[in-house]
Amino acid sequence: MGSQDNSPIDSNMQTELLARARAAANRAYVPYSGFPVGAAVLAEDGSIHTGCNVENASYGLTICAERVAATAAVSSGHRQIVAVAVSAPKVPRTTPCGACRQFLNEFRPDTSDVLIILDDRDSGEPVGLEELLPLAFGPRNLDAASPADASSTPGRDHRGS
Ligand code: THU
Repeated sequence: MGSQDNSPIDSNMQTELLARARAAANRAYVPYSGFPVGAAVLAEDGSIHTGCNVENASYGLTICAERVAATAAVSSGHRQIVAVAVSAPKVPRTTPCGACRQFLNEFRPDTSDVLIILDDRDSGEPVGLEELLPLAFGPRNLDAASPADASSTPGRDHRGS
């Protein structure tokens, strides 16, 4: 999978993100699956936002750790996600589910990939979101729509900062 060459973050930050994801996993609400997950998002300004999975008796309303962390970042005013550490204490190298890959792609910085750091029980295994979600559909696809389409569609400036 990914390599640490050209990593957008240094090893200290990777260690910090992993630690924060592991700590967040301890707060997971998982009465149904018994499968805790924690995530820590690094935003473009260096701030870190964490989340854990939150399950629901209706099952389908369960929210994954990655999406909780991403929404924490966005609701704090950060729309560019540089990196995300993911930790599932029961299974090393757990990767984000497909829905979370799509959700994270929404907040990919303009000129770089999102670095996903998997918890390998060691110093972390980095992998690019592009590798996990090739040929992704995202906001830039909508930006490519013709101006005529845009002017007839309210709320198109969805990523405005
Ligand atoms: N889960 C996450 O939080 N993140 C993932 O990427 C994989 C799955 C959660 C959802 C559910 O609460 C539990 O793990 C089992 O699927």
